[in-house]
Amino acid sequence: MFRKKIIFLTLICFTFSCTEKIEKKTKPLNPNGDSELALIMRELQVNTSIIKDEIEKEYFDPNAKINNDYFKQLVKERFKLNTAQPSDENLKSTNTYSNFAATYNYSVSNFLNNKITTKNYNNMINNCISCHQQFCLGTIATINKLKIK
Ligand code: HEC
Repeated sequence: MFRKKIIFLTLICFTFSCTEKIEKKTKPLNPNGDSELALIMRELQVNTSIIKDEIEKEYFDPNAKINNDYFKQLVKERFKLNTAQPSDENLKSTNTYSNFAATYNYSVSNFLNNKITTKNYNNMINNCISCHQQFCLGTIATINKLKIK
């Protein structure tokens, strides 16, 4: 039963959202319009990629100053993960989604409250991927590019 649900959710993800080419999109993929959650996810994707650039900038030039504005944005976005309306209303019918969201949120706190490290940053990205392995396989390759090697 549970397995079936997951397969169903995955199919929904493939059909409506979670595409590879998020940047090039001009109209909503979902015929009913993009969900609130999908829009937040896109924001997260863009914002996290800017944070990646900031960290790498500092890595190559230790005197460079990290722009913290985007980090603050991360805090706002993570709280919305639990409240935003998803495309699939069954998403929150079990605790699975909220458990993954909690793990991701924990890794965000860990990243923000400690010295900025590549390890804590990548840990956050791994938690995006863990949730996507359950709910939204289509975007994993794109999210993988956010990792700092
Ligand atoms: C707790 C689970 C969870 C976490 C954590 C998560 N996602 Fe998602 N993501 C989803 C779900 C579910 C969708 C489908 C949203 C919808 O269509 O309503 C999605 C959709 C997306 C999309 C596609 C949006 C579109 O254009 O339709 C992108 C891109 C994305 N996520 C990136 C990320 C990134 C980057 C992170 C980490 C910084 C992340 N996600 C963390 C569950 C998660």
